[in-house]
Amino acid sequence: MRTRILTGITTTGTPHLGNYVGAIRPAVQASRNEGNDAFFFMADYHALIKCEDPARLQRSRLQIAATWLAAGLDPQRVTFYRQSDLPEIPQLCWLLTCVTAKGLMNRAHAYKAAVDQNVAENEDPDAGITMGLFSYPVLMAADILLFNAHRVPVGRDQIQHIEMARDIAQRFSHLYGGGRELFVLPEAQIDESVATLPGLDGRKMSKSYNNTIPLFEGGSKHLRDAIGRIVTDSRLPGEPKDPDNSQLYTIYRAFASDAEAAAFRRSLEEGMGWGDAKQALYERIEREIGPMRERYESLIARPAEIEDILQEGARKARAIAGPFLAELRAAVGLDAVQPAAAPAAKKKAGKQARFVSFRDDGGSFRFRFLAADGQDLLLSEPYADAQSAGAAIKRLRGLADPAEALRADGDSYALFLDGAKAAHGPDFAGAAARDDALAKLIAELRALAAE
Ligand code: TRP
Repeated sequence: MRTRILTGITTTGTPHLGNYVGAIRPAVQASRNEGNDAFFFMADYHALIKCEDPARLQRSRLQIAATWLAAGLDPQRVTFYRQSDLPEIPQLCWLLTCVTAKGLMNRAHAYKAAVDQNVAENEDPDAGITMGLFSYPVLMAADILLFNAHRVPVGRDQIQHIEMARDIAQRFSHLYGGGRELFVLPEAQIDESVATLPGLDGRKMSKSYNNTIPLFEGGSKHLRDAIGRIVTDSRLPGEPKDPDNSQLYTIYRAFASDAEAAAFRRSLEEGMGWGDAKQALYERIEREIGPMRERYESLIARPAEIEDILQEGARKARAIAGPFLAELRAAVGLDAVQPAAAPAAKKKAGKQARFVSFRDDGGSFRFRFLAADGQDLLLSEPYADAQSAGAAIKRLRGLADPAEALRADGDSYALFLDGAKAAHGPDFAGAAARDDALAKLIAELRALAAE
């Protein structure tokens, strides 16, 4: 089975070199691994928690999408989407919010840090703290659990959120799973081999320290200017330098092969001037990101194309999220099927869900599956003879877990037996109608299997 990896990128800023080395480059590499099924998304609902500037949010979403695509993310291979294009995420978020202990959220680092700061400043402990900030880990749990991700590549500051997602998932399953885990329990993935890039002043490169080197924005000129501002000591050309005490060397190493890094190290030890070292660093970085910048600029110039890619990503993501959310809704009692009164009425009218067999125009044997109210839910593939069609009906009647056999497919869905498509639904007017019908179909098939 492929490992499902999922990660979100909060869309508040413009990507810098530290983001590229620490997150973008390793994620794109991981997505190329055959064993991984990657889901990357732009966490723009999360961005609203810290950013109240609509223009900035809008710009950041575009820049981040273009950056990931330019850095080699293949949207055919990776499910790449925008959080706010999936209504299933806030819906699941609410289901999870209702089972999450407030005490658990009280312990979240980001919230606690905000409270501590207020206290230190003699403010009311909750001054300026929104419910968005407070319950942020629940939204993040919804992002992850909706896709049953196995691994979540994140920075260390996010480990606690992944642990909370596991807690929330277990609590939900305990209440509604009838003895079953309803979610894959996710694990944080911290890649030790990935460098944390120092910024201009030697501290971790971060927008909040104002010490970043831009990735693409501003072109090669901004890259060169920023590198020129990297802080060095005052040793003159000809004097030996200490590579281990220079962020210049650390940044170089993040882009170079071992051999290149060793040569650069030697040159510094042998007295290369800082000016020449900066020029060498600039050239090495430019070699890797120059071609990407060209792609970035041509993407940024055509936002409609980026939008198409994101819409397609949202469609792929919703094909998975929709049916799963329908199951979870049913589990909590928000089933799309008529409750309680319906079975009695059904009996009286003698109406039950039923299979209807027929021969199609080509002479093949097929069947339909109709809901108790007559709604057409499935049309089978053609079978050569009546026996095979009958055998397929028998299988459908006994399906222990019909949800497992069903997959959303555009505005419809398909049913698989032993890995082969056995039947499909009609075309619905949209994802909502499709998901209602799917939930109904699952309930009808479960009822049959229970008979
Ligand atoms: N909170 C993450 C951060 O600030 C971003 C994020 C949102 C995320 N949802 C996620 C990361 C789901 C991983 C999985 O970095």
